[in-house]
Amino acid sequence: MNSSLLHRPLPTLNRRSLLASLSMLTAAGLIEPQLVASVLAGERDLGRLAVQAPSSEGTWSSLHVEGAIPKDLNGTLYRVAPGQKTNHGVQLRHLFDGDALLVKYQLREGNATVSARFVETPERLEEAATGTMLYNEFGTLAPAPGKGGKNQPSINVIRWDGRLLALSEGGHPSAVNEQTLAFEGYWDFHGTLPKDMSFTAHPKFDPETGVGYAFGTHKGRDLALTVFRMELDGRLTQIASLPQPDYFMVHDMLLGSEHLVFVVPPVHYDLPSLFSGRVTPADALRYAASDPTRLIVLRKDGTGEPVILEQPAGMVFHHGNLAEAGDLMTMDSLLSPDASIFQHLAAWSESNPPQAQLPQLTRLTLDLKQKRVTGRSVIGEGQEFPRFDTRMSGKATRHLYTMQGGENFTQQTLVRHDFASATTQHVDAGAGNAFEEAVFVPRHGKSSEDDGWLLHQGYSAVRNETYLDIRDAATLDRAARVWTGQHFPIGFHGNFYYDV
Ligand SMILES: [Fe+2]
Repeated sequence: MNSSLLHRPLPTLNRRSLLASLSMLTAAGLIEPQLVASVLAGERDLGRLAVQAPSSEGTWSSLHVEGAIPKDLNGTLYRVAPGQKTNHGVQLRHLFDGDALLVKYQLREGNATVSARFVETPERLEEAATGTMLYNEFGTLAPAPGKGGKNQPSINVIRWDGRLLALSEGGHPSAVNEQTLAFEGYWDFHGTLPKDMSFTAHPKFDPETGVGYAFGTHKGRDLALTVFRMELDGRLTQIASLPQPDYFMVHDMLLGSEHLVFVVPPVHYDLPSLFSGRVTPADALRYAASDPTRLIVLRKDGTGEPVILEQPAGMVFHHGNLAEAGDLMTMDSLLSPDASIFQHLAAWSESNPPQAQLPQLTRLTLDLKQKRVTGRSVIGEGQEFPRFDTRMSGKATRHLYTMQGGENFTQQTLVRHDFASATTQHVDAGAGNAFEEAVFVPRHGKSSEDDGWLLHQGYSAVRNETYLDIRDAATLDRAARVWTGQHFPIGFHGNFYYDV
């Protein structure tokens, strides 16, 4: 392949120029005709292409960079995503299905190296050795029953206690070698995470102390939300076990200056179906539209009775910040008016999955003294993947960064919210491009909020190639676009860590 053509910078494309570029690249033999047809068929196909299995595993250096990587941005961005759409001949149905692919970008003195590798869990290796899909996925059953579900660390990745942990929320974290990305074993936090306890994919970290907070659920019929403090020595301390009226689903949490908040949507599992082994967890989910969404407010030290507040039924995956001022709290959440997202995600591989209600960026105000929700306002439509300057956790924040999607939840617009001026700034990915969650990286430890960089992957269908964008968080101006020469699936979450 002609690398000079491959790395030619492309301007932001409208549909007309996209057509012209695709025709040129097809004529030059640089892109397959069926890929062109897919892109032209609409954004539905862009969504499929953006999450396709990776082109390769490996390490690539001397990457082509448009612009300039900031010389003081020296560290590593880790991303993780479901990396398969088929497993040994079986079509995977759900967007969450597939073995986890880790991608890391190492930035050093203006240069970039990218590595990609599947997390080689014992289950993945067992399937590879037999050439058969043996384990159920969240939304796809294995052809032959018996092995149970797979612990897929494809949701988030953090560095903690001197090791890299890929997180699934369906089981224990996977410890991964930071250099080689080799799987090193399931991690139980020095024996402090009980054997059958899951661990959230969204732990939160206190910016003042460095201590983390996390939660898990016991596999089986225990109906309790177990809350942990992640101690600086790497161990977990259980600080609460909160009984729940039914089997529940909590994906994310909020960390304030004094409290933790868990938002529990009225989503349950049909347990007989789930434990039959003949129905996937995705298909066993039930939405109780007449039940409330519950907010559980717990003191960070676990003491006292949690405050339970109710809101109308809805679905939620992610939250922004939680600001506390005395008895008053302000929290931002991506609330959907129903759980139609589940039907969409479960039928994701089909040609025409049912459409879903899009999440709304919603600000709730809580009065702990009155024990009630005193305000609720929608401040953004169709958005997801909220990130903010986590040095501001628990305090009033001016800025939030989200991704706005179209149909099929393909993220195509980066949004910077300025709550002080009630304004937003947008960056559109451009036709034939998809974006991934943007990670805020402060310029340095003492910089002010919003003074830093936004790092996010993007995917160009025209080039069938993944890139890393580095933007000034305050202006959204792009400092650099790092072309990888590969395509990696757009996924969910990741984090950046400065070199120490
Ligand atoms: Fe998430």
